[in-house]
Amino acid sequence: MNLGTLYGIGVGPGDPELLTLKGLRVLRSAAVVACPADRTGRPGLAARIAAPHLRREQRLTPLYLPFVSDEAVLAAAWSAAADTLYADLALGLDVAFISEGDVSLFSTFTYILREFQERYAQVAVRIIPGIASPLAAAAALQLPLAIGDETLTILPAMHRIEELEAACAPGRIVVLLKVAPVYEQVYTWLKASDRLEQAHLLCWVSAKEERIYRRLPAAAERLPYFSLLIIRPEPAARR
Ligand SMILES: C[S@@+](CC[C@H](N)C(=O)[O-])C[C@H]1O[C@@H](n2cnc3c(N)ncnc32)[C@H](O)[C@@H]1O
Repeated sequence: MNLGTLYGIGVGPGDPELLTLKGLRVLRSAAVVACPADRTGRPGLAARIAAPHLRREQRLTPLYLPFVSDEAVLAAAWSAAADTLYADLALGLDVAFISEGDVSLFSTFTYILREFQERYAQVAVRIIPGIASPLAAAAALQLPLAIGDETLTILPAMHRIEELEAACAPGRIVVLLKVAPVYEQVYTWLKASDRLEQAHLLCWVSAKEERIYRRLPAAAERLPYFSLLIIRPEPAARR
């Protein structure tokens, strides 16, 4: 029996229409759709984005992939997830692993891909990129993400305020992902360094809960996980 193909599909930031034509075609053609899920097995944002496009016959496989620092726990979870997917691929079924935004930008698909490259190299893998959240945020703000000789830094999370300070050098645009848990610290630093005017906060960009703050809410505001911050000086009129 021929093996199925494993697809990694970026399903975009939240609006189900922000999915590429190719992503949509392959998503609908796969027998099995695998998606990240929480520890209770409840599918996450990627599954919600894909839901309006799925056919009734398609099987959804939620996979719990924890965010923990314990390497052994992580390795076991990725290995188990790859085994689960391989069971269907071995039956000749195509499997689409979906990820919100793009599959190559801080996506759990990277770990799945590595498992396949190391342990199931006989399986064909195809990756279909998606619209990443920083791109959707720039579109929502109607601001360039970067232009001319500006430099763009994407920080996946901030562990120390010095990291943000270093990234915010002149001529640099910074996108800070996973900002929710450190928002108070970041707000305080932006205020102290006179950068509040340069910061834009976007929550659930392009999804139905979208909130865009061109003026940042108070430091004590509780933000959803799907929040990001763009810190950029006004773009020069012409370069
Ligand atoms: C693990 S990263 C995944 C990034 C994703 N693969 C992408 O391409 O955008 C999760 C972080 O991305 C950001 N994010 C993803 N989707 C978002 C959205 N619709 N609105 C705002 N932030 C989003 C948030 O900062 C969130 O904490």
